[in-house]
Amino acid sequence: MEFKEYLKEYQNIVNSQLEKCIKKEECPEKILNESMEYSLMAGGKRLRPILVIATYKVFKKDYEICFPYICAIEMLHNFSLIHDDLPEVDNDDFRHGKPTNHKKFNHPTALLAGDGLLNSAYSILADELENSIQKDSKEVLRNKIKALNELSKAIDRVIAGEYVDVLYEGKQVTDDILDYIHINKTGVFLKACVRIGAILANASEEDIEKLSKYADKIGLAFQIKDDILSEEGDSKITGKPVGNDKELGKCTYVSKYGLEGAKEKLNQITKEAIEELESYGEKIEFLKQLANYIKDRNK
Ligand code: IPE
Ligand code: IPE
Ligand code: MG
Ligand code: MG
Repeated sequence: MEFKEYLKEYQNIVNSQLEKCIKKEECPEKILNESMEYSLMAGGKRLRPILVIATYKVFKKDYEICFPYICAIEMLHNFSLIHDDLPEVDNDDFRHGKPTNHKKFNHPTALLAGDGLLNSAYSILADELENSIQKDSKEVLRNKIKALNELSKAIDRVIAGEYVDVLYEGKQVTDDILDYIHINKTGVFLKACVRIGAILANASEEDIEKLSKYADKIGLAFQIKDDILSEEGDSKITGKPVGNDKELGKCTYVSKYGLEGAKEKLNQITKEAIEELESYGEKIEFLKQLANYIKDRNK
């Protein structure tokens, strides 16, 4: 199968798992549940769950063990996006080519939809661990707990990164602060996805550390590309506003180093990410291509 076909197949798997998590029942908070579904199923790339599955598959075949984690991860990602778009943060009206959650519904609904997704993610994993006590070996249970811990620590960093991003809006920043924002709001989460895939597959510490180096690099590359797309992307393709970072005076690779400087850094770091995987041979091909996809994507 070609890389693009794998990508599509993985996206379909993620979407069908997420469908199972959606609350459809009649209840007074039905619209709140619809607003959670609206954002969750709006057409994201599913990159984070795909990183979990693809990393797991470097070591083992049947990746069903990843399913509760990939659902939780996409819920947490969408929680962060709903709150990121709120007027108090980035004040954006469009995402995935549609009105943002607070525009489609209203501000309290968007705020609570974010809260709902944040809690549902951990609730799914709590259920998974309780069931695991009955059916799994000590080793499997241990890996599942370690994976949950990776995830919650990463989300702590996403929230910190978002805070610092807003804190420095409109201000000049040092290289260290710019990296701090990028690594925390975006990079750490992508890295956690790689680590979770490896941990669930019971990979060795050595492999987890090696893959983490690759993940550090694609994590940073991902946000640099996001900054580039915010400057020169096509909003019909990205599905979100272009020029918004500049308008808010956001500290980005583009604001600091210019478009050309940002592109140079992106090329360099993607090359380094791929080099980190050299020792793995054929089975790592998808993760290598994923690094190039992150660099070359137009949405
Ligand atoms: C957007 O992430 C937010 C950032 C961390 C830059 P994605 O580009 O992965 O969001 P999707 O694909 O729309 O879900
Ligand atoms: C979003 O960063 C990061 C998180 C939601 C944690 P941005 O604000 O740069 O991403 P977009 O461009 O709105 O997707
Ligand atoms: Mg933001
Ligand atoms: Mg934003």
